[in-house]
Amino acid sequence: MAQESTSAVPQTHRVLYLKSTRDPYDISVVEQPTPQAGPGSAVIQILGAAVLSYSREIFSGRKPYPYPTPFVPGSSAIARVAAVGPDATTLEVGQLVYFDCYIHGRDDPNSLILHGLYYGLDPGSNKLMENEWRNGTYAEYSKVPLENCFPLDERRLLGNPADGGLGYNMADLSYFSKLAVPMGGLRNVNIRAGEKVIIAPATGAFGSAAVLAALAMGAQVIAVGRKLDALEKVKTLSPEGRIRTVQITGEVAQDVRELTKFGPADVFFDISPEEAAKSTHFTSCIQALGRGGRVSLMGAFMELTLPIMAMFQNDITLKCKFMYTKQDMRFMIQLAEAGYLKLGQAGGIQTAGSFSLEQFEAAFDTAAEMGGPGMQTIIAP
Ligand SMILES: NC(=O)c1ccc[n+]([C@@H]2O[C@H](COP(=O)([O-])OP(=O)(O)OC[C@H]3O[C@@H](n4cnc5c(N)ncnc54)[C@H](OP(=O)(O)O)[C@@H]3O)[C@@H](O)[C@H]2O)c1
Repeated sequence: MAQESTSAVPQTHRVLYLKSTRDPYDISVVEQPTPQAGPGSAVIQILGAAVLSYSREIFSGRKPYPYPTPFVPGSSAIARVAAVGPDATTLEVGQLVYFDCYIHGRDDPNSLILHGLYYGLDPGSNKLMENEWRNGTYAEYSKVPLENCFPLDERRLLGNPADGGLGYNMADLSYFSKLAVPMGGLRNVNIRAGEKVIIAPATGAFGSAAVLAALAMGAQVIAVGRKLDALEKVKTLSPEGRIRTVQITGEVAQDVRELTKFGPADVFFDISPEEAAKSTHFTSCIQALGRGGRVSLMGAFMELTLPIMAMFQNDITLKCKFMYTKQDMRFMIQLAEAGYLKLGQAGGIQTAGSFSLEQFEAAFDTAAEMGGPGMQTIIAP
């Protein structure tokens, strides 16, 4: 039985408050009234919130991410339910959850925001973040939609291996926020066990998470990147040797030969940043696909040139994906609870730093400087 909002929630709490991105850049930790749960919402106590490698650029206004100011930044997080609204049916106070920051309008699913990060590109989306869902998770508590709280099997995930647990800690679980994104794009092209999946670039935060997600789904991974040392690190994400690496040399024919050394691939998954838009890997990875191959694009580009003739000739399907579905989130958690999707040390994932709210500058710096395969930084208020 769900419990109504009562509860252990204190009257005030600490938040990281971004007043302005310029004239002057004004961000600091302040005390504010704690939000209350109402119909449709829960108040969660934040245990670990993800920090993106480009957080400093976003929250200083240098990277043009739209959000209202003032507001509390901070997106997906591991949390405990502290209070629930009267219409909660299963969520209970005290329950461990993964809070997913991707919020849709309830009366229009096309209105969408990333809580604490991005307030969408149309008035409906903007309205969601300007009002009800304005303040994110770099705070002790946050008010969030009930449907964005995904229950976690605490005994299984955090329990002692001797008692059937997987022995993870809270920081290990925070990596769900990295895995969630590629999970959306990989499932969007229906990855099947045994398929050859090219992941490019595989050396970044989301690319390396894509490698782990594809392995958990039973795929053979071909990890693509520019730097050999980073690719070597990616290789260690599969101690059983299910990752093959291919360096982007800029010579398309040579790269295609290397990519198809053991036959054509089934899927090409891309999560490149804008800077990579002119990279030759788009052409070589598409040319490495067999007939009926699928391309899943998650990278963020203003424009991209693709080898359309090769795509025609080979019946290639291309799909784009922004984030993921709620089913993707449930599937990701199920894979982790089953033990197929490995987290923490078992998955080769390292937490570069876990910082308090007051240490937000160090958190932003660490996330920027200590990125790379399997790395994460979190703020644990
Ligand atoms: N579709 C969605 O829903 C969604 C959601 C979240 C993020 N994204 C997008 O995903 C992108 C990647 O994010 P991230 O956090 O993973 O970034 P990241 O950690 O900074 O990784 C960037 C990756 O891109 C590679 N790269 C950079 N410049 C390149 C170039 N010129 N040619 C080839 N590779 C290059 C880097 O490789 P090196 O190791 O060689 O530097 C690295 O592997 C972002 O641009 C973001 O907008 C999309």
